[in-house]
Amino acid sequence: MKRDDLINKLPLLSGKGSWHTNDLGGRYASLHLSDGPHGLRKQDEDAKTNNDSYVSTCYPTASCLASSWDRDLVAKVADSIGQEALTADVAVVLGPGVNIKRSPLCGRNFEYYSEDPYLSGELGSAFINGVQKNGVGTSLKHFAANSQETRRMTSDSRVDERTLREIYLSAFEKCVKKANPATVMISYNYLNGYKATENRHLMTEILRDEWGYDGVTISDWGACIDLTAAVKAGLDLEMPGSGKVHLNKLKKDLEAGRITEEDILPAFSRLEKLIEDHSQNKYVDADSIDPHMIALEAALQGAVLLKNDKNMLPLNSGIEINVIGELAKTVRFQGGGSSHINTHPQPDIISEFEHAGFKVNFAPGYSVNSPFPDTRLEQEAAELVKNGCPTVFCGGLTDLAEGEGYDRKTLDLPDNQSHLVEILDDSDIIFLSFGGSPFTVPFMDKIKAMLHMYLGGEAVAKAAVMLISGEANPCGKLAETWPMSLADTPAYKNFADGSGEVRYEEGVLVGYRHYDTLGIKTLFPFGYGLSYTTFEYSDLKVEKFDGSSKEDPVRISFRIKNTGNTAGSEIAQVYVENPDDGFVRAGHELRGFEKVFLNPGEERTVEISLDDRAFSIFDTSLMSFDKAAGEYKILVGSSIDDIRLRSIVNIDGKDYGNDKTGTGLDLFIGNPECDLDSTEPGMYSVYNSLSELSERSWLGKIMLKIALKVAYSMYKGKPKDDPEVMMTIETVKDGPIDCIILQSGGIPYGIAEMIVKQANKRR
Ligand code: BGC
Repeated sequence: MKRDDLINKLPLLSGKGSWHTNDLGGRYASLHLSDGPHGLRKQDEDAKTNNDSYVSTCYPTASCLASSWDRDLVAKVADSIGQEALTADVAVVLGPGVNIKRSPLCGRNFEYYSEDPYLSGELGSAFINGVQKNGVGTSLKHFAANSQETRRMTSDSRVDERTLREIYLSAFEKCVKKANPATVMISYNYLNGYKATENRHLMTEILRDEWGYDGVTISDWGACIDLTAAVKAGLDLEMPGSGKVHLNKLKKDLEAGRITEEDILPAFSRLEKLIEDHSQNKYVDADSIDPHMIALEAALQGAVLLKNDKNMLPLNSGIEINVIGELAKTVRFQGGGSSHINTHPQPDIISEFEHAGFKVNFAPGYSVNSPFPDTRLEQEAAELVKNGCPTVFCGGLTDLAEGEGYDRKTLDLPDNQSHLVEILDDSDIIFLSFGGSPFTVPFMDKIKAMLHMYLGGEAVAKAAVMLISGEANPCGKLAETWPMSLADTPAYKNFADGSGEVRYEEGVLVGYRHYDTLGIKTLFPFGYGLSYTTFEYSDLKVEKFDGSSKEDPVRISFRIKNTGNTAGSEIAQVYVENPDDGFVRAGHELRGFEKVFLNPGEERTVEISLDDRAFSIFDTSLMSFDKAAGEYKILVGSSIDDIRLRSIVNIDGKDYGNDKTGTGLDLFIGNPECDLDSTEPGMYSVYNSLSELSERSWLGKIMLKIALKVAYSMYKGKPKDDPEVMMTIETVKDGPIDCIILQSGGIPYGIAEMIVKQANKRR
């Protein structure tokens, strides 16, 4: 390519504004990219704040959708989002998020499916296929090991190669191979000493060379600093655009031979293909779907019945009930941050109960704007429940507890909720709960039933009432473990403690792999969920196809019967019990599942294939997955703690019992020199955050003060702990100065350079 042509085309590698790809002055179509993934957050380029977006349907968040364990449902929701995107002229929806939940404290867990890579990969693939069948692209995010919000842009996830492949990359791998997302979003964090956007091992060696991905890699918003290093490592597009700043450096680097034409051309051709594939708005039959009804169906399927003593639920409609808790009025149905949807106002829980024929007495009992008990509100509620009617206590995590950009500090419910329930008379209390992640329930003994709605989207109130009244039968199951206490959680010792280096010392024992293998009691186990009916499992058959079918060496079948009086769905789970070969390996791993709807008395045969991966480990001496020989147990059950059927299968493969080569959790591929915690004068750069720089630069200090003031003033009238405000403030403090200045909309880049220069001066 002619040098001038090459130079003129470089802007293709950088976005145009916040949401568009570059059109090179009209030479190409400019694609509109929008969040995702729980509906469409389409923003105009001049939108001032995060929540200033077009009105669209708010579907349940990923943690709720995942509890449905329903590939078809996830695809249906995604299809609906894809159709809304088409109508809104959005070319790429930024989602799904398939990061693994390393700790229940991650503030963004509500946006992720599960602690298990198999389940996350299955549902992520369904989502991608659902959106993309409309000709709209997706962005699989956040690649990779982006497991916490604390210092999400300036911390280094240190993950050994085996853990990385078996746990943190596995869902991405499945999505790439099974569903081929149009783009993959590269995360903010560092991975093993390299910023993810400059990590060649991640973006080129694994994603492209090993998995064969030929779509476009996009930086998370503001995650690219050195475009030369990023493109050389495998990044195609930085978002948002950086004006001329990064491009000018790229140009200079090209002239100086630090990057070559060969490094750049593949990114051009991948971007051109993306633009060509997604620039034509296809016909959309908008009447064919009712997005709100799909949101309702998803909320119904994602809710999990966690307790139901003496069949307290369902309640007959028409009866008189008490509804206690401010969350019944200020219903929490979504999380804060980039997935926030600006949706039509919806009826609250009280009106939905009334609409269904209940007579409702309501008292708020606590405030959602503060965690502190309010005596007046408490007394009013305590007085009310003395009437002896069944009481639906609406509680759970409030917006203050979780959101993008900050992590949770505790697993506890807000104090005012726990205190309130403790003082209520021992009446029949049903806990109707909301929230994107697990929490502890100190008053568990006091409640008769608990129905968890997660963050169920715009139709959550209707769904909750339909489930409580028995108009629908709960069938969701937990896609994550609910621990008894924070100290029990796998990453307890090294999660979000504020340091730059985050060691994933728990290795492959994440989520239920940790509790189950180490015998730690949980509040609710992985895969758990009750129903208004009962199911019986029988007749497990295991067939081995070694040699004849390389992909699926084992096929199993079993029967499930609905033995109750109500129609309902059962989510049957297949766990494989690994042989104990004397190296670190989870006791049981989820390797298959199926959801079956059955009328009372109905019985069906379920068939599930188990592929090679079900019996493999990532062997670090071969740098590939390899089947481990041995006797495996096949367990079929209703949760990991409720196994109903068992069988045994012998698998041929490498004998790791005798030869442990490649089984270790000690291979780190990356940059051992990187130490984000001990930056000395002379080492500061535009990669450092304003918080870090302000400690050594008076200009940085002033800048931080001004930036925080401006950020707060953008949200005048909103409390400081509002999720939208919190996310912005955390980004200002933690974001690399490069990203903060470039996104400030006018501060000259020279200021960032001056601050860095000051910080580097020896005193
Ligand atoms: C988030 C992404 C999101 C992007 C665009 C980032 O801060 O991490 O998930 O897609 O912003 O809003």
